[in-house]
Amino acid sequence: MADDQDLAETTRFERREAFASGVSARTGINEAMIERLVHNFYARVRADTVLRPIFAERIADWEPHLERMCAFWSSVALMSGRYHGRPMPAHANLPIGGSDFDRWLTLFEETAREVCPPAAAELFIGKARLIANSLELGVASSRGEILAPGERLRSAGT
Ligand code: HEM
Repeated sequence: MADDQDLAETTRFERREAFASGVSARTGINEAMIERLVHNFYARVRADTVLRPIFAERIADWEPHLERMCAFWSSVALMSGRYHGRPMPAHANLPIGGSDFDRWLTLFEETAREVCPPAAAELFIGKARLIANSLELGVASSRGEILAPGERLRSAGT
């Protein structure tokens, strides 16, 4: 039994390694690139008049948040399994609407295109759009709303 579990664990590990090597070979993505992307992106968020206040209310110490976000992107892009959190509850009660998601994505896309080679930037941007969309739907549903196709999340309180 223990042997079976060890084998399953090894197989999972090897599959992840193979996946990460494939992504790296195609796009150049590695942990160092993820760190540059994350740090550069949140520097822009912290300088942005729209997003800064939302983050400033909730994040006093940026180091743990940046580390968590590197782990998140490592899990998303390289399937490293480094991230163990739950993004949805972290956003459910934020005072945000569709235009905040648009702003977040604009800054993220600008950063990815400046910091990463094109294939890597496209991979990050594609994933970010999908995740942003599912977070927007999730935040709406946590407010008891169901968004119709194409309908955007209303700003909280409007
Ligand atoms: C309107 C746009 C967004 C805003 C204002 C926002 C804001 C925040 C804030 C304030 C936190 C910290 C929550 C806390 O620690 O209490 C957070 C966490 C996080 N955000 Fe966002 N976010 C946005 C969009 C996104 C998108 C599009 C993604 C993914 C592509 C994302 C991924 C995450 C993740 C992974 C965490 C960490 C959750 C955890 O494990 O605790 N966010 N965000």
